[in-house]
Amino acid sequence: MREINASIPFDKALWRQDILASEAHVAMLSAQGIVSDQDAEAIKRGLARIAAEYEADGVPEDWDLEDIHMTTESRLTELIGPAAGRLHTARSRNDQVATDFRLWVRGAIDAMDAGLADLQRALVTRAEEHAASIMPGFTHLQTAQPVTLGHHLLAYYEMFARDRSRLIDARARLNECPLGSAALAGTGFPIDREMTAKALDFNRPSANSLDAVSDRDFALDYLHAASVCAIHLSRLAEELIIWASQPFGFVRMPDSLSTGSSIMPQKKNPDAAELVRGHAGRVIGCATALSITMKGLPLAYSKDMQDDKPPVFEAAGLMELSIAAMTGMIADAVFDVGRMREAAELGYATATDLADWLVREADIPFREAHHITGAAVRLAEERGLALDAVPLEDLKAIDARIDARVFEALSVDASVAARASYGGTAPEQVRSQVARAKAALGMEA
Ligand code: ARG
Repeated sequence: MREINASIPFDKALWRQDILASEAHVAMLSAQGIVSDQDAEAIKRGLARIAAEYEADGVPEDWDLEDIHMTTESRLTELIGPAAGRLHTARSRNDQVATDFRLWVRGAIDAMDAGLADLQRALVTRAEEHAASIMPGFTHLQTAQPVTLGHHLLAYYEMFARDRSRLIDARARLNECPLGSAALAGTGFPIDREMTAKALDFNRPSANSLDAVSDRDFALDYLHAASVCAIHLSRLAEELIIWASQPFGFVRMPDSLSTGSSIMPQKKNPDAAELVRGHAGRVIGCATALSITMKGLPLAYSKDMQDDKPPVFEAAGLMELSIAAMTGMIADAVFDVGRMREAAELGYATATDLADWLVREADIPFREAHHITGAAVRLAEERGLALDAVPLEDLKAIDARIDARVFEALSVDASVAARASYGGTAPEQVRSQVARAKAALGMEA
């Protein structure tokens, strides 16, 4: 029982939140005349001393004391005697742990948001630098149309902006204080729940005590937001891994975030990117674990809920590492713009531009233009030529309405410059999206 019951090995991570919540609680108990000023003073001094001890030496792990709440109360008793027992008036470990854990998750949300803002700044800085760097754009990982690297990087800026907005939503829903719900039904003591909620920077006390002690939605919201973010990080990691492979050669990963091979001297492996991709699986696993823990629980508290903490702690640690590693990779990646441009020029990436030109300049319906373009691409393929290297006579033989002006449309530069619709890949669009992003991130223009 001792072994299965003890949560101190992991919930000691809540010690700061536990002390803060106890300080708020005892201040309220004395303001309401439930505990004498003298006892409240002794409790406050004791808690301050315990915090200093934990800070200096760590939290002692005595499994007989079960969890962080009992560990702290037992030390308080050693320090100030029986008055320590008054701290738990009008409170239960059920509302205590719900409060502590909310505070912890709130901090994790804020830390993740700050990390993502740094990552966005790195993306925007690189996007500005590469607003006009041309690379192949893919669908089905087949060359589709030329795009700019800046545009590609800003796609991830948008994904991380959505992740941040999910965190902000989660934080707003989380920010209610369970303290004072006691075991499940509230308390007969004349407590002031507004006061404790305010002291702990919550927006309000929770409105239903049964819900308050049994709710872990805030942890699920956090884990689900983290999962979606981990998916985005993993997709970006996957692109970096592909781009860094020799057949692509689009990017060199920074040495500081790569490793060598113990047997093949030429190797430089994108391990940090691979670990970011791998960590996403674990984070999604954490969200799944807590969802399944919660799904069958009747109201109110059940001990299953003690298992809420390890997946949240694990996911938070993984997200912190993944975001930091990705920020470093984006900031220091060396892009080979020559190689990217060459790749964009292969693969008939401007075929759509030929079709668009036929629509625009020769008033041909798009379906027919698509057909004519297909014939031109087949001819170019047969001859082993780029589309803009096929002689005009041969293009004219396919369709007489084609004339020399078409070559202006067939370069990769013309292709990206033409796509200046809002949100498109043209350098001018990328620059204006960079300006918008910089303003949103408080970066200098
Ligand atoms: N260590 C427990 C947890 O993390 C604290 C709450 C215990 N409550 C109880 N009624 N046994 O969930």
